[in-house]
Amino acid sequence: MQTAAIILAAGAGTRMKSKKPKVAHEMLGKPLVSWVVDAAEEAGVDKIVTVVGHMREQVEPLVASRTQVVVQETQRGTADAVLSCADALDGFDGSLLVLSGDCPLVTADTMRALATAREAADAAVVVLTMQPEDPFGYGRIIRDEIGQVERIVEQKDASPEQAAVRECNSGFYCFDAKALFEALEQVGSDNAQGEFYLTDVIEISREAGRAVIALPASDDAECLGINSRIQLAQATKIAQRRINESFMAAGVTMLDPDQVWIGPDVKISADVELLPQVFLYGKTEVGEDSVIGPNSRLVDTVVGRGCIVDETVALQARVDDGATCGPRAYLRPGAHLCEGAKAGTHVEIKKSTVGRGSKVPHLSYVGDTVIGEGANLGAGTITCNYDGKHKSATTIGDGAFIGSSTMLVAPVSIGNGVVIGAGSVIARDVPDDALALTRPEQVVKEGWAALQRQKFAQEG
Ligand code: UD1
Ligand code: CA
Repeated sequence: MQTAAIILAAGAGTRMKSKKPKVAHEMLGKPLVSWVVDAAEEAGVDKIVTVVGHMREQVEPLVASRTQVVVQETQRGTADAVLSCADALDGFDGSLLVLSGDCPLVTADTMRALATAREAADAAVVVLTMQPEDPFGYGRIIRDEIGQVERIVEQKDASPEQAAVRECNSGFYCFDAKALFEALEQVGSDNAQGEFYLTDVIEISREAGRAVIALPASDDAECLGINSRIQLAQATKIAQRRINESFMAAGVTMLDPDQVWIGPDVKISADVELLPQVFLYGKTEVGEDSVIGPNSRLVDTVVGRGCIVDETVALQARVDDGATCGPRAYLRPGAHLCEGAKAGTHVEIKKSTVGRGSKVPHLSYVGDTVIGEGANLGAGTITCNYDGKHKSATTIGDGAFIGSSTMLVAPVSIGNGVVIGAGSVIARDVPDDALALTRPEQVVKEGWAALQRQKFAQEG
């Protein structure tokens, strides 16, 4: 049977106290709504529709490439939000999941379980339920004498007796799509909030003689909705633990997993060691036997096997097998350390390749540069790649030896096997195997320092 999903993401999220819409807030480097899209894709859903509204210009770009986007102009309730997808799902006949964009911990397994349960019973709706410690604020599941689900009553509409019920609506459902859109036409707004409640569909379906089922969540944590920064931190903790435990089970060592934050799309091989205060976000990958940290942040960065990445910030960079970085290296977009290369202490590299076995060990800036194999850049080598307007390129040949504190004024090309004298300012190309240096004549005045000290002493 075909499966579609609607992700509700039009609400304001006022309790976040933010200028950003709630579903655009990030958990482990990824927007909340994207976690839900990921899970729906993983569950094999055929079509996903996202309902946007409040601050939609910030939400739409997050989902537009992966889901169809529908606009709900005014937020008149969850039933109205689903109804706004009627055109997008016109003619769709199958299982329709309704998901909340602010519940990032929901899993593909749960989505599949909802659809399977609905199809097995040919039910009008299966609602995922939970038993929170404090049910305040949630819709309560009201059952009849024989325990069948009768309806859902919202907190604000509940009698004291109903409010005492612990079983709550998680806000995740699987509907028979055709029956849902028929039932939605009968939903009114005669309730405490004057909203159109999606939950009214439960009672309407039951009265139409269709099966209505409650499926208890296998883990209530999955249903955690994010309404505040406190809940965002709680959900982040749960996600962090889930991800870290699965990597440890797969052979990754963490000295202290509470101090390692890994995004959901990161890949890490066995026998990698992650030290404290490590952030691995985006599409980062780490190959086997590499050691990352302490104090390192890698975003969209691919690290090979047997690398050491110590106190490093790396953004869209590549570190090939056996390369080392840090402590205190900064690899900016386009930095590429080839096999066995080194970017050492207080070294910044941008849009540059450091060839196999080449070393930039101390205090350097390398930008828009291609370095060959086996070259060595002395301490304090700087590529002067920017004239205030344009960026210019530098090339450094195989085996070149650049003396300490050299300025390479780009555009400039240093040949293979070249030696540059320390302290030089190199603004013209240097051919293979040459020595180049620029160095003012040294002045020596014998005894001058001793006389100076004597003079100072007499002054008192
Ligand atoms: C809803 C359920 C409640 C359930 C709870 C679980 C209803 C009436 N109630 O309550 O039974 O226990 O979720 O978290 O459905 N949204 C729109 N457009 C709107 C209104 C809401 O897109 O017009 C979106 C919100 O952005 C949010 C989701 O729908 O992602 C849920 O809406 P919200 O107002 O938070 O519902 P609750 O009051 O929490
Ligand atoms: Ca609400």
